[in-house]
This record gives sequence, structure tokens and C-alpha cells, in this order.
Amino acid sequence: MTELIALADGLRAILETNKDDFQRRVTTLEQAVAAVAAGSLHEQLRASAQRDAHKLAGSLGTFGLPRGSDLARELEQRFALPGRPVQSDGEHLANVVGALRGELDAKLADRHPDALDPGGVTRGALVDVTDIARQASDDRELRRAMFETGLAGTEQIAPSSRRILVVDDDPPVRLALAAILADAGYDIRDVGSAREARHVLTHETIDLLLSDVSMPGETGIDLIRYALCEHRETATLLISALEDPGIAQVAMDFGAYGYLSKPVRRTEVLIGVMNALRRRDIEARERATRENLERVVALRTSALSDALQRVEAAATQGRVLQAETIHRWAQSAENREPGIARHVKRVSHYCALLGHAFGLHAESLGLASVLHDVGKLAIPDSILLKPGPLTADERLAIETHAQIGYDMLSGSCSSLLDMAAVIARTHHEKFDGSGYPRGLAGTDIPLEGRIAAVADVFDALTSDRVYRPGWTVQATITSMRSERDKHFDPVVLEAFISSIDEVQAVRSGVRPR
Ligand SMILES: [Fe+2]
Ligand SMILES: [Fe+2]
Repeated sequence: MTELIALADGLRAILETNKDDFQRRVTTLEQAVAAVAAGSLHEQLRASAQRDAHKLAGSLGTFGLPRGSDLARELEQRFALPGRPVQSDGEHLANVVGALRGELDAKLADRHPDALDPGGVTRGALVDVTDIARQASDDRELRRAMFETGLAGTEQIAPSSRRILVVDDDPPVRLALAAILADAGYDIRDVGSAREARHVLTHETIDLLLSDVSMPGETGIDLIRYALCEHRETATLLISALEDPGIAQVAMDFGAYGYLSKPVRRTEVLIGVMNALRRRDIEARERATRENLERVVALRTSALSDALQRVEAAATQGRVLQAETIHRWAQSAENREPGIARHVKRVSHYCALLGHAFGLHAESLGLASVLHDVGKLAIPDSILLKPGPLTADERLAIETHAQIGYDMLSGSCSSLLDMAAVIARTHHEKFDGSGYPRGLAGTDIPLEGRIAAVADVFDALTSDRVYRPGWTVQATITSMRSERDKHFDPVVLEAFISSIDEVQAVRSGVRPR
């Protein structure tokens, strides 16, 4: 109760300070009503009457004078249409403004600023016994509302560390709002225009902007819009004497945290402010969490990217090393069997060409096929290097190189060597099943083996031998075509022939022996 009486004292002092302002506004209204009766109301006086009635409606309501507020609002509506005659009989208007004058005089005349009785009841003050009782009730309502909205029991930041900027061109209302909020412990700044508010927002940290809507110059709507763009950390709350849901909707669409209608009650102000600040805190926490998360994601993405680059570099190095090792082997085989290095190199290129055409990994297929004859390492020189025709036994001995190559290459942890093993074992299989070592037929022969068969035979026929010169490409193609469906997979063979220009380019780059 002590705080409520202190608040009442504060409000009463504000009223006392603004007594002349109220009187002046009522006088304007009286002049306007008289002008209506005399038929001499001009536009300037009509606009002044509307503005003053509007301000009085908000002020009186806020100060607990609902009847005075209603009378002022009726007058505001009567003077609301610029350029049109006031549609009312002069007598009625005179009665309304007379009642307003009476209401105001009664309250102001009965005021004794320091008249508090021992029981703590403010006698004669604008905030009277009824107001005190209402405010006490408000406190209960406030606690209930806080409980229901989750404000009670949550981690609360001390109001004293919250700075609120109150913006209203009507000093009584502005000061009353400031008094209510200061009484609740908030740190208050108050200004009378949007221009001053912008200055404060720019130079001070403001937690909540509580702004009137209708102000001369820049409106509260525009001010809120500016704050939402330039000061996103500031919560925004609109307050207006205009009972217009459209304005409230516009404000909320902009992102305002709430909208209060004058006359506002203390409870409504405090709940509105607490809700707005709470929402601001939640949004600030969410923003901080999101920004922190984005930082963590960025850091981890960067670390992952670095790791991937290292893995990729290692893999690239591994592939280079693997390829180099295979080519070095092919080169060293040249010492034993002259021409073998260039043969396997061309076969490798042909296989890569066909692998690309059939959607295989061309690079791997090309590299694996280098090793297709690796089993010949086990064949004695007397057979392998024999210049003349081979006997049947010698041919059988030679044919073992396919299985021997497979045995040499299989069983590793390398998919490349696994593919090389398959090629080594199947590159002498024939499409009709008459090949070796297992007599596989058709698509039982792995595609890699069918490809290597075409590449190997083409290179063998177009290469010189000690017992014959190499065939021409055309003669070779003609011969191989006669082996469609017999030696060669027809689809693979035609794909190879249709790539003959690229095959020729490989031949001219890697000269036939
Ligand atoms: Fe072979
Ligand atoms: Fe070969």
C-alpha cells in the first residue's frame, strides 16, 4: 500500500503540474462549441478542438477519469471530419463540454497534494480511494497475470537494469507512464517527440521503446518501424488513444511487441512492458544461440574441410603412387620382353576409352589393364621369347599366364588390384565360350574382361611381330568384325570401332612396336 500511495502522490504531482494544460484544452473545446452554435467554426479551430479532445481523452483516462475521458472522446468524434460541418445541435455540444468542464473542475478543485490520512487513504487527490483500491486489485491481478503468462517464477532481470524510453507528446500521459514504470523500478527516459527518441536510441542503450502513435511530425508507427530496422535489440510497444484495430495490426505486422489502448491501467502497462521485455530476452537468447551455433558450425565445417583436404591430398598421393608403381613395373618388363611397355600402355588407353563409353571408372580401368599380362612373369623365356611358332604344349604354357596373373593380383585390399586380377584372368575369354582359362561365355565374362579382349587383340594385330608386320587398322577392323559374337562382345566391338579416331590418336602418341 505504501508504494501505491507514493505512486498516487507522483501522479497527483503530475496532474498538478499540468493543470493549466488541461484547462487550456477545455477552453479550446468551449470556444469551438461556441463557434458551432454561432455558425462560425473555421478549419483551424476545428482541428485544434479535435486534437485537444483527443489528448484529453487519453490523459483523463490514464489518470482514472473515465467519464471525463468518454466526454472528451465524444467531442473528438464530433470535430473529427475536416472540411465538413459539425453535425450536432449546439445545445448538446454545449452540454457535453460543460460536463467535461465540470468533471475536471471537480477533480482539480478537490485536490490537496499532501492530504493523506493516517490510514493511508489519499483524500481529494485525483488518484483517490477508489484508485488506490483499484491499484491494489491491480497488484493481485498483476500477480495472477504474471503467473498465468509464465512471467512469475522465471528468471527475472532486475527492473533497475532495464532502461525504458517513453515517447508521448502529451506531457501528462508521458509523465504518468514514466511514474508508473519508475515506481516499478525501471530506469526511465522520456521524450516528447519521435525526433528526440531517435537521438536517444542512437546514443543510449534502450531495452524498451514505449511510444504514442499520434504525435506531431513523425508518428509512433514510423518511429517503431525505424527502431525495428536500426535497433533490433530494442523491444517496441505502441500506445494510443485511437481505438483502431487496424493500427494495432499494422504495428504488429511491423514487428512491434504489443499495443496498448489509452486509457491504460497500471496493470496493463506493467504486463505489457514485462511481456515485451521477456519476449525481447527470449529473442536475444535465441539470436545468441543461433549465432553461437553458426560459429560452431562454421568452425567445424572449416575443420572438416581441412581434414577432407588432407584426406584428399593423401588419397591423391596414394593414387599417384599406385599409378607410378604400375607404370614402373610395365617399364621394367620391357627389359625382358621388348615392346611390352608400349603394348600395355596402348591397351590401357583403349580400355580407358571404352570404360568411359560404358560408364565405368575410366582411370581405374585404364590403370588396372596395364597389368593384364603380368602373369607372363612366370612363363619361361624359352617359350615367351620364342621367335618361331609355338608347339601345343608351349601354347598351353603361355595360356597359364591368365590364371597366374589373377593369382598374383587377387586377395589384396585394393579395389584397383581386384579389378586388375579380373582383367588378367578374363582378357583371353571369348564371347562364344571358346576362350581360356575357364571358357566363360557372353556376359558371364566380366565387362572389364570383354573390353580388355578387344583392346588387347586390336593392339596385337596392329603391332609388328618378328614373323610379320603389323596389320593396317582397316584390315584389323575387318578381321575383328568377322569375330563378332565369336571372340568379341559385339556391343563392345562396335563401341571400340566407333571410337576409332581416338584410338588412332592413341596409336600415334604411343608408337606401335
Ligand atoms: Fe595376355
Ligand atoms: Fe596383352
